[in-house]
Amino acid sequence: MDIEGSVALVTGANRGLGSVFARLLVERGAAKVYAAARNTDTLTLDGVIPVHLDITSAADIAAAAQRCDDVTLLINNAGITTRTSALAGDADEAGHREMETNFFGTLAMSRAFAPILAGNGGGALVNILSVVSWVARPANAMYSASKAASWSLTNALRVELAPRGTLVVGVHPGPIDTDSAAFLDGPKIAPADVATQTLDAVQHGRYEVLTDDTSRRVKAALAGDVTELYPSLIRAGAPAR
Ligand SMILES: NC(=O)c1ccc[n+]([C@@H]2O[C@H](COP(=O)([O-])OP(=O)(O)OC[C@H]3O[C@@H](n4cnc5c(N)ncnc54)[C@H](OP(=O)(O)O)[C@@H]3O)[C@@H](O)[C@H]2O)c1
Repeated sequence: MDIEGSVALVTGANRGLGSVFARLLVERGAAKVYAAARNTDTLTLDGVIPVHLDITSAADIAAAAQRCDDVTLLINNAGITTRTSALAGDADEAGHREMETNFFGTLAMSRAFAPILAGNGGGALVNILSVVSWVARPANAMYSASKAASWSLTNALRVELAPRGTLVVGVHPGPIDTDSAAFLDGPKIAPADVATQTLDAVQHGRYEVLTDDTSRRVKAALAGDVTELYPSLIRAGAPAR
């Protein structure tokens, strides 16, 4: 579908990757860009329409769907990272929040906007996932699990929405240079690069975006032995069976 002339809604559009998506959509000629945020006072970009939206609030989602019923491109970008492991820390509270936001929030937005997209000719639904959909980070286990679940959801949505003419795109970036990855050392991809590759995928009807070498390497390694993705298992030695 054409980005130019589209009517887009971006969740978490006030900062990080979401704000870059909103800016690029304006630059690439979207007819309308709904910039959704929990606090619309934090939206600073010109040329967008602010929308109050917490993706964990059913009332907010219903109100946004009613107001933004001309959307042809939904970008489910909003997400949180609590850096909680499966065994240490508050997996209960933090892990639930991650699932509520990253998985159930994305699901609720998709359910609310799928009929709108279909009614407006099909359009596209983009889910911002992660390389951790495919490789768990033990120190960030709950986040990884929420992205793995969202990957599965994305695949199911893609098949279910294809007959309605809606393209479903899953985006799997490695570390991006935003607040949520500030704790990570090492190379990070620029948010503008992720957003550009994603909008190009929408434009050309591609299902999946592997934005960087980390993402491409990890996806390829899924076909190999489990120790390819988790080499510390080799050092730890095989457990007795
Ligand atoms: N950064 C990375 O390395 C990386 C890598 C792969 C994938 N991703 C994914 O990329 C997406 C964007 O992340 P980012 O790096 O841009 O993170 P970020 O800078 O921390 O921004 C997160 C955005 O999501 C919003 N948000 C959080 N919870 C929300 C909720 N319940 N309802 C509505 N908005 C909510 C935040 O709003 P507030 O300002 O109100 O908090 C903020 O706008 C996320 O899905 C993330 O998981 C990030």
